[in-house]
This record gives sequence, structure tokens and C-alpha cells, in this order.
Amino acid sequence: MLVLGIETSCDETGVALYDTQQGLLGHTLHSQINMHRDYGGVVPELASRDHIRQVLPLIAQLFEQTKTSLHAIDAIAYTQGPGLAGALLTGASIGNALAFAHNIPALPIHHLEGHLLSPLLSDPAPTFPFAALLVSGGHTQLMRVTDIGQYELLGETVDDAAGEAFDKTAKLLGLDYPGGSLLAELATQGQPKRFKLPRPMLHSHDLNFSFSGLKTAAALLINKQEMDAQTRADVALAFEEAITDVLVKKSVTALKTTGLQQLVVAGGVGANSRLRQKLQHQLVDTAVTVFFPELEFCTDNGAMIALAGALRLQQLNTLPPPANGSFTVKA
Ligand code: KG4
Ligand code: ZN
Repeated sequence: MLVLGIETSCDETGVALYDTQQGLLGHTLHSQINMHRDYGGVVPELASRDHIRQVLPLIAQLFEQTKTSLHAIDAIAYTQGPGLAGALLTGASIGNALAFAHNIPALPIHHLEGHLLSPLLSDPAPTFPFAALLVSGGHTQLMRVTDIGQYELLGETVDDAAGEAFDKTAKLLGLDYPGGSLLAELATQGQPKRFKLPRPMLHSHDLNFSFSGLKTAAALLINKQEMDAQTRADVALAFEEAITDVLVKKSVTALKTTGLQQLVVAGGVGANSRLRQKLQHQLVDTAVTVFFPELEFCTDNGAMIALAGALRLQQLNTLPPPANGSFTVKA
């Protein structure tokens, strides 16, 4: 079965074709980052208008690349949410319209399900069950993933998401939007241990996170210092060390408490090299294997939506839909 995936939840227009036999056939992406940069964040109305401009040409380009056409597609998966309302509406309208015109199912996919399943695009891929650390601009969650549609929330942020904390701290350091990867780059120039920032909820007896206090502590530190280039890098490093320490500690605790032996790291912050290094280091002498999606599949993309749609479709064709899954799907 061949599924076209459409992702338009925020500032990337992504489309992809996933085949249940052959895997990912192709994917294309248009990023709006340059358009939003001048405003210091995503402008929702501009995002929706740009998705409208980009999505059909991207689909045409994808068909050309993969030498296929809409007639060969068995279903269209689109990001249902969460995300910006107007941006989501664009993908949903186009997905539903194309599916209606071709008399095939339209599959609404939860954006986080796309991120959660994205490591299945890589080789080697994890097998069910696995633990997942989902760290994006809007979410920070630890999940137990037992099967397609069977996701148990183990813990989550009680305030800011990890990506949001990266972006807000990056802004305080004068970096462009979205600042997560720029802050990480700046941190590579930082002197270790010059500053120490708090590691919120590191010792709380649960799997929840809190990052708004860390961001405030970074803001206070920045306000107290003469911010020359070296100091900016030192603050960036102190921030990155603090946030990654918390993400690593809670992930390790989740693995210990669930007994799961595979950890998947998904979402944009999963691209962070320091987080990857620390997790690998912490788990090197254990039986746990860590899976990181390729960098292009960490941030928003159409491939993860096409994949989730294909797996959902396969499941609908073989099994009754899960009764207790966190995410629902209508076909
Ligand atoms: O998953 P994603 O593309 O979009 C959402 O669903 O939110 O994640 C975007 C987030 C942004 O906050 C961005 O700054 C962060 O991921 N990010 C990073 C890195 N690359 C992207 N944060 C830290 N280090 C990175 N290398
Ligand atoms: Zn995302």
C-alpha cells in the first residue's frame, strides 16, 4: 500500500510517499524559517499562506521524483494536529480534497505520533515495545510505545517544552529564530563549568519536567553579565548542559522503571549532539539500545506522517482499531 503524507502543522511544508513493502520512496520539504526569521518567531497567517503556495507544487515534485502519480496512491495521511490552526487546515483541506477526488481514504494523523514513529524510518529500526523521549518545540514527553496506537504517557513537561526553552534562551542570547541549533553551535565554543544553571525537577520522584525556571535563571544570568562573545558561549553551554542533564536522567529513570530496553529519541531537540552523546554515554554499559532518527526526520517532515499513515492503514486492514490508543484515526 502506498501512502502520500502531508505535514503542515507549523513552519515546514513536508510531503512524502511511503510504501508498506518498499519503505520510504521519497520526500520533499519546504522550510519557512527564512520567512519568519525577521519576526523572531512563526507568524501563523504567513505560515498558512505559504503552505497553500507550496503544498501542491511539492506534491507534483515528489511524484516526478518518484515516477508515480496520484492514481497509484492508496490513501492520503495528513497532520491533524496539534499545530497552528490555519496551517493544519491547509494540509487537511488538500489531503481530504485529493482523497475525495480519488475515492481513497484520508487519514488524520496526530503530529506526535509521526514524531514517535519516525525512528522506524531508519535502519536499524526499533521494535515494539520501546520507550520514547519526544522533545520538540511544543512538547516534552516520555512515552511507552507498545504498538501502533498504543502510547502510554509516562511523564511530560509541566510548563515549557525543551525546544521552547532552547528557543527562548537563544533569543536572550541574541540568536535568530529558531535558536535551538544555533545555541547548540554557540555552546561548542563555551568554557565548561564557568556557569552553573539549575536542573529543575532532576530529583523529583516522577518523570515530569519543568523548564521555565531554567529559562528564567538563564535570563537572570544574562542580565548580570557583560555579554561578550565568550560569555554568550559560556551561558549557552551552561544552559545546554543543564537541560540535557535533566532529559538524560529522566530518560534513564523511565527505562529503569519500565524495564524497556530500547529508547527512541524523537522531535527537533533530538537533533542535539550533546543530548545524543550523553545518552549514549549513560547507556553504554547497559542492555539498552538508543535510536535516533536521521537529522532530517528529527524536525518536522512529511515522511513521518506518510509512515504513520501507512502503519495505521495496514493496521485498519488487519486488526480492529485499538480501543485504548491515545490517538484515534478515521478512514
Ligand atoms: O519537532 P520540531 O521540528 O517541531 C515541533 O514539532 O515543535 O522541533 C523544533 C524544535 C525547535 O525548538 C528547535 O529549536 C529545536 O527543535 N531544535 C534543536 C536543535 N535542532 C532543532 N534544539 C536543540 N539542539 C538542536 N540541534
Ligand atoms: Zn514536530
